Formats: sequence, structure tokens, C-alpha cells
Amino acid sequence: MVRTTTLAAAAASLLVHVQAGGLYTKNSAVLQISGVDYDRVIAKSNYTSIVEFYAPWCGHCQNLKPAYEKAAKSLAGLAKVAAVNCDDEVNKPFCGQMGVQGFPTLKIVRPGKKPGKPNVEDYQGPREAKAIIGAVKDKIPNSVKRLTDKNFEEWLEEDKEGPKAILFSDKGLTSATLRALAIDFAGVLPVAQIRNKETAAMEKFGIEKVPTLILIPGGSKDPITFDGENTKDAMVEFLSQAATPNPDCPPPKEKKPKSKKDDKKASKSSSKFSKASASHKSADASSAAASAQSETVEEPVVPTESPDPNLKTEDTAEPIIIPVEETKPTIPIIAEQAELQASCLTSKSLTCILAILPKDEASEASTTALAALASIHQKHDKSGGHLFPFIGVPASNPLASSILAELKFDSNDQPHLIATNGKRSWYKKYSGETFGPVEIEAWVDAIRMGDGKKETLPETLIVEDEKKPEVKEEKEKPIEQEPIDIKIEELPDDFEVPQPEKKHDEL
Ligand SMILES: *[C@@H]1O[C@H](CO)[C@@H](O)[C@H](O)[C@H]1NC(C)=O
Repeated sequence: MVRTTTLAAAAASLLVHVQAGGLYTKNSAVLQISGVDYDRVIAKSNYTSIVEFYAPWCGHCQNLKPAYEKAAKSLAGLAKVAAVNCDDEVNKPFCGQMGVQGFPTLKIVRPGKKPGKPNVEDYQGPREAKAIIGAVKDKIPNSVKRLTDKNFEEWLEEDKEGPKAILFSDKGLTSATLRALAIDFAGVLPVAQIRNKETAAMEKFGIEKVPTLILIPGGSKDPITFDGENTKDAMVEFLSQAATPNPDCPPPKEKKPKSKKDDKKASKSSSKFSKASASHKSADASSAAASAQSETVEEPVVPTESPDPNLKTEDTAEPIIIPVEETKPTIPIIAEQAELQASCLTSKSLTCILAILPKDEASEASTTALAALASIHQKHDKSGGHLFPFIGVPASNPLASSILAELKFDSNDQPHLIATNGKRSWYKKYSGETFGPVEIEAWVDAIRMGDGKKETLPETLIVEDEKKPEVKEEKEKPIEQEPIDIKIEELPDDFEVPQPEKKHDEL
């Protein structure tokens, strides 16, 4: 009983974190990756992926979710559909590196000429399942050999001892399924397609109807005709009798020896994709279950067990220890007008967050807001991020009342949070009614990512900057430090910012 209570209390206090943890549930067909996984799971994969960069609080991301889930189910086994929560502290630098400036950002990543150096391009199409599925399918590389009566014999002669597969078809194009099948067996089993008008080839293999898939086991063995269900899963299984399909990405370097059942299996099930892909049986059941579920309910059911992978469900006996900060973090309080101006209100000042405090500095709201700001800033400092300054402005600072008056704040007995940027002449009010760390952090993150509307900062609040030498340094700050180098008001509702340059575009 006591244990249950402890756990419940701990879970309740973690609930906010859990909810802020991500948009997709553990059982989602969307592969949830972190910046750490990206290189191995996406960049080094032979498959094409679409990656969504999102923040859980972003409305357009929430709107995209059902379509994205649908795309993930439909593309299972063909391509990877992944999502990165850019709100998660560990992913923020990665999202910055990927040039993410607004949410959601969708990027299609497909293998490049050099392994591990994929082509990355923004997906700018409609945020609908059908359009996403089509765009991703289009980018699945095609290594299927197109054969004719003239050259099929020659192809059969190549590497005669090894297995090969041929799909006879009436289609001129190669389907996404066959292209994905060829990727599964890249390097181990060449896949070809022959059109039914190639009568010599049709006759040679005694093909009477299309589509027909045959496996040529190699050596002197006779070809085998596939008579299973017309799904990619069944085809993979059929070809697996002659060759082992590749894993969908390189196995993780070192994983905790959790399940030592079978190395091959462990590496295959290292990601959700392989679960959804056909290459092994137990996974088929789960993906079938997932798709069956999708037909009856709109969104995946939230698991009754904890959706937070960090919460252990098996050993409930262990209490969860939540680290407590030993020293209370603080933010600078600036009571001098000139100092505040120099810090945040010159024509060269970059983003600052000001907490304008009421006369009663010790009020509960003030204390809460200052503590929240301090803990948010401390969190960023600890993770090596460079967050813009947070500054407390007491009522005794003469600028406090001018700011309140200029920005038309109504009351003076509450703290007021504003973000300012002197260089770009904007400000943004915090409009929340409470001052908890979660609400404030969501607001801070929106500012960091350039999300949301900004107002024009009255000129009367800005002083000309005289200290020239500092300017240059500020300009060269990398983008993740100051991602709001853009005027949000000018952007369309469906926030998408063009990619500055396509570094990876080799083709
Ligand atoms: C990718 O394909 C190549 C053959 O083109 C293969 O050798 C390699 O193992 C594949 N990568 C993975 C991760 O399976």
C-alpha cells in the first residue's frame, strides 16, 4: 500500500514530464528517435526516411499527428517514418544542427552515394497522409534491374551460384514494394523485373500470369514460384529461404545485455521499423495488431502501463527518486536603469527575457516566476546550451514602470514576463496566468524556436548602442543560440522556413 502510494505520488509529479515527453505514444507506428539515434537509424540506413521535427506544444504538430500516424502505418516495411521531439533537452542541439527553425519541419532523408551521407531535403507538400506517403515512396531508391528478352540470359549468368529474384509484371514502373524488397536484400540477392511483353523470358520460366515472383536459388536448383499473399511481408519471407535480409540499419554499438536470445534477432528488433518490416515473424503480429487497432480507433490507445520508458513498470517496488536541486538557482536582478538598458534594451541587443516585478517582490507569483525562470536557465546551462539572459527587473528600476506603460500592461501587482529583442525591435508578452516552470518553459521554447506572433517594440524603450566591438561577436552566434533571426509576422500560418542551403544534395 505504502509502495503504491509512493509510486503514485512519484508518477503524479512526473506526469508533466511524461506529457511533455512527446506527441506519439510508445505504441505508435511512428519511430521516435533522438538526435543520438539519427546517425545510425536514419543516416546510415539503406532505407528512405521521413523525419518530423516537432514540439509537443505546437498546434500544427498536433494537427499533423493523425496524418503522420497514418503515413507511418502505410509505409511500414517500405520506408521509415520517424519523429524527433525538439522540445526534449537532449535533442535541441540536434534540431538546431538540422536547421530546424519552425515546427513541424519534415525532412525526407534518403541514402546518398556515400554510405552514411544521406540526401536530406525538406518536405514542403501538404500535411496529409496521402501526399506524405506518395512523396516518401517516390524517394525510395530503385536497385531493381529492369530486364528484357535481350539481356535477361546475361543477367542470369552473372554470379550463377547465388540466389536471384525476378518479378514478372505488366507494369512499366517498379513498385515501392519491389524497390523496398530489393533494399532488404541489397548485396545478397539481386532483384529484377521483367515485363510480360518479354515473351522469351516469360516462356523460359513458364510464366502464365502476372504478377509472378520467382526465386532462383542459384546453382542447379530449379526456380521456385511465389504463391503467397501479395504483401511485402510474405515476399520477404519467401526470399528469406535463399538469403538473409539486411537489418534496416547498423546494429547499435553497445546495448545493455537485456535479451541475449539471438544476436541476429536482437539487431533486427533494434528499432520499431524492423518490427513493422516484414523481415521477422513475431513483428508481423505486432504490426498487424497495430494496424487492426488503427481501424477501430482514431489514435493509438495510451498504454495503461507507464508511457515513459524511464519509468520501470516491472519492479514497482523500487521507489522512483526524483533529484532535488541542492542550491536554489537565481537570475540576475537589475535595479539600475542604465545597466538594464546596456544589457537588453539597446538597438543591438539580442533576445532577453525580463521579469518585471511588482512592488511586492516577495509575492507568491513573483517568487514562483523567478524560481521558474532560474530553474529553466539552469537546466540549459547544465546541458551546455546558451540561452538568452533572464533578468529580474524590480519596481525600483525606473524602466520598470515605463516598460509597463509602453507595453500597456494592465495591472501592477503581478509579475510580467516579456521577451525583448532590441536589434529586431520586437517583444513578446507572456500571457499565462500562472508562473509555473512548465508554462514558462513552453513560452521560452516558443521564443527560442521563433514560434508565435511578436509585437513591435516601441522605439522609446530602446537606446542607441555605442559599444561597437561587441556587435561583431553577437552576429556570429550559431543559429541554435539565436534561432529567431526571422520575422515571424511575415511567415504564413503554416510555418515553414526555406532551408538555407542543401548541404547534402549530391544528385
Ligand atoms: C546496405 O546495402 C549494402 C549493399 O548495397 C549492404 O552491404 C549493407 O549491409 C546494407 N546496410 C545495412 C545496414 O543493411
